[in-house]
Amino acid sequence: MIGAVAFWRSLAFSLATVAVCVPRAGAQAVPLAERIEQCGGCHGADGNSPIEKIPSLAGQPEFFLLNQLFLMREGVRLIEPMTPFVKSLADGEMAALAKHYAGLQPKLTGAGPDPAVLARGAELAAARRCASCHLPSLAGQEQMPRLAKQRIDYLIHALTDIRDSRRSGADTVMSASVVALSDADLAALANYAASK
Ligand code: HEC
Ligand code: HEC
Repeated sequence: MIGAVAFWRSLAFSLATVAVCVPRAGAQAVPLAERIEQCGGCHGADGNSPIEKIPSLAGQPEFFLLNQLFLMREGVRLIEPMTPFVKSLADGEMAALAKHYAGLQPKLTGAGPDPAVLARGAELAAARRCASCHLPSLAGQEQMPRLAKQRIDYLIHALTDIRDSRRSGADTVMSASVVALSDADLAALANYAASK
């Protein structure tokens, strides 16, 4: 009888060990296509977002994407709706997702640029030297995101969050570029940048 109890205890122990190990192995085994489908529910099947205030990822610099995914997984850049999708990402999965989205063609989605504010946007962008980091094409480089063909509503939202110090985990090099700009100035910049 005692032998049987010891047997069941050791079996329960082995099962508990297996239960601890299996989800970890499983988390790394999610096929890339399945991940892309999850991300696509918000960011668009082709990486161009159909949803207001959700950024397009298509054509973003690979390192920018990888860096942001890392910051999100670690909870430094906190985006509540994204948390369940990023918290289990393995390093290799983040690299594969970054490569995938960097290789897609960016297309402007949502409202088109307002021609009435483009000249003001160009003037502000020149004065504040946006191109010195985001490149003259505004296609972004390294950890600096693409602004060209990004959704205008998202750019306005991002610029406002950065100006008002509300973007969690933000790189502070951007803060000086938007300091003391009005909402109308930010909208002009967003329209101009998206139109490139
Ligand atoms: C439920 C909707 C949702 C899902 C699913 C989702 N995201 Fe997001 N994602 C967002 C929102 C919202 C933001 C912008 C948050 C903000 O700054 O306001 C965002 C931002 C991002 C950014 C930052 C882009 C930038 O220009 O700053 C990256 C990179 C990103 N998501 C990648 C992914 C990847 C990869 C997946 C799949 C593993 C994914 N997201 C799944 C909603 C989602
Ligand atoms: C000194 C370099 C530098 C300059 C100058 C600069 N930026 Fe940035 N910008 C960055 C970096 C780095 C980030 C990424 C911020 C982060 O990690 O949170 C960024 C992020 C952004 C974002 C967020 C986009 C996204 O996809 O989430 C917008 C919008 C933006 N910049 C617009 C501008 C505009 C408009 C100007 C000029 C008025 C400008 N930037 C000038 C470096 C710069």
